[in-house]
Formats: sequence, C-alpha cells, structure tokens
Amino acid sequence: MNSGYKVFAPASVANVACGFDILGFALQKPGDEVIARFSDRKGLIISKITGAKGKLPYEVEKNTAGFAALKLLEHLGEAGRGIDLEIHKKMPFGSGLGSSAASAAASVMAINELMGRPLTKRELLPFAVLGEQIADGAYHADNVAPSLMGGMVFIRSNQDLDVHRLHVPKGLYAAVIYPHVKVLTKDARDVLSDQVSFKKSIEQNGSLGGLIVGLYNSDLDLISRSLRDVIVEPQRAKLIPNFYEAQEAALNAGALGCSISGAGPSIFALCANSLIAENVGHAFKEVFDNAKIENDLFISTINQEGAILC
Ligand code: HSE
Repeated sequence: MNSGYKVFAPASVANVACGFDILGFALQKPGDEVIARFSDRKGLIISKITGAKGKLPYEVEKNTAGFAALKLLEHLGEAGRGIDLEIHKKMPFGSGLGSSAASAAASVMAINELMGRPLTKRELLPFAVLGEQIADGAYHADNVAPSLMGGMVFIRSNQDLDVHRLHVPKGLYAAVIYPHVKVLTKDARDVLSDQVSFKKSIEQNGSLGGLIVGLYNSDLDLISRSLRDVIVEPQRAKLIPNFYEAQEAALNAGALGCSISGAGPSIFALCANSLIAENVGHAFKEVFDNAKIENDLFISTINQEGAILC
C-alpha cells in the first residue's frame, strides 16, 4: 500500500536577540505537515496545499517545500521518480515563526523517509536551506536547522552550514506572540543597513558569547543580560506596532529577555519557567488586545526533537 510518510516540522524563533542569522530554537507548536507518496505520474508534483489561504504556489520550483524536495531528489539521482507532495500549513504564514523553513524541513524529511532514509537529518539540512531560500532570497539556516534538528542551534557559518546544538537549561520556556500585521522577511531584511559601528559589533559579540556561556552553565542572569540586540532590533522595531510596549510588558512580567522573533512581526520572550512564561504571555496579549490587533499566543518549551514522523 502506498500510504506514504507524514512529517511534522515545528515553528522556530530565529536570531534570539543577539544572533542575527546564526541562532535559532524550535518551538513545540505550531508547525507544518508534509506528506510524501509515490505516484504513477512522472516526477515531483505538489498535489495538495491546505491552510495558506491559497497563497502558496503549486509550481515545485517556486514552493519552499517543493524546491527543497526537488533538490534532495536530484542529489539522490531520483528526480524522475513519481512523487506527490501534500503540504498542510498549520502555522501562520509571514509571521516570523519560520513557516517557510518548517515546510522545507518537513518536506526533505518526508522525502528522505520515502526513499528509505538514505541521509541523516544533518545531511538533509542543505536541501531544506535551499528550499527556504526561495522565500527571502538569502541562504541562512537559523530557522531551518532548529525546525529540522530541534533544540537551540548556533551556526558558525551559514555558507558551510557549520551548525551546532547548544545546551539548554532545564525548565527554559518561550512565550511568543504573533500580532496579525504584515511583515515580509524580504522587506525586513531590506530595512537593514549594511554598516555596523565597531562599538555595536563589540557589544553584540559580547552578548552572543554571554548567551552561549549562560546556556551552557544554566546561568539565567547571564542569559538575561545577554538577550539584547543593539543592531537589528532598533532598525526593525518600527515595522511592528507596539513592539517596545510589548517588550517592556514582558520584562516587567519577569521574562529573562524579549526581542523580535526572526524577521517579525512575532515577538518572543525566554522565561525561567512555565508560570513566568504564562504571565509574560498574558502581558503580551494585553498589549495587542488593547491595541485592537488580533494576535496568537504560543507558550512552549524548547523542542529538542525538531521534525518528526507523525
Ligand atoms: N535571520 C532571519 C532574519 C530570519 O531575521 O531575517 C528570518 O528568515
């Protein structure tokens, strides 16, 4: 019977304040599902897409999941194989939660399972990154790597995909709010200046190092001092209404730190435990409810598994 394989890949928070393009972590939910099945037709086809309000293309080469799958099949010498892909978008699109990355990650894992699992998750990474590149034109793994492999991931080099899982202190929780405003990743990248002052780059490097040491030593105070972004957040905050109000509310509610999730508009906060994360979530919600901006709230531990068969 050709029932195929269904894979769930989770949302992720990229940048994590001080690691633009080189840090990210996976959430438990939301996430996307991709099903891969053999078919009698020739080649790869996207046979069904649900949940993206009809906005995603069915052309394989223009679709993040489709392109990632195609590149993997080419690598395996199986590009002519008849395969149907179904993409079920179960997370908001254009939210800063790594939606394109989740589809690409789920897609390569589903194809890999269908082909008898010739590659490890780590070996699948380049193909998923190529898929995600379709969405914003840039080659970075800070959403794809955590979505596929799980955990908190540090990327020494995107070019070489020199990717490392970091230790995460027990009990660490994330509160993430998605205010329903439109921010395209491409636009959020276009607002960034390519000039960074020497002083700011030293400060940011200090925070990045501090965050990694803090994670390894479960030093919550150091994590808190390090969850700062003096380069990207000040340039992107204007794209997200009420951002600074939400950040202040999260910190007052006890968050260790709070910044933009990926390219936004979602905002994340890391918290020492689930109760604080709930409080921070309420504080986030209050800000956007008061501003009459629809929103979705997600409270989650750091997902250590990444993409899974389901
Ligand atoms: N690091 C990326 C950015 C994540 O912030 O633009 C979004 O794809």
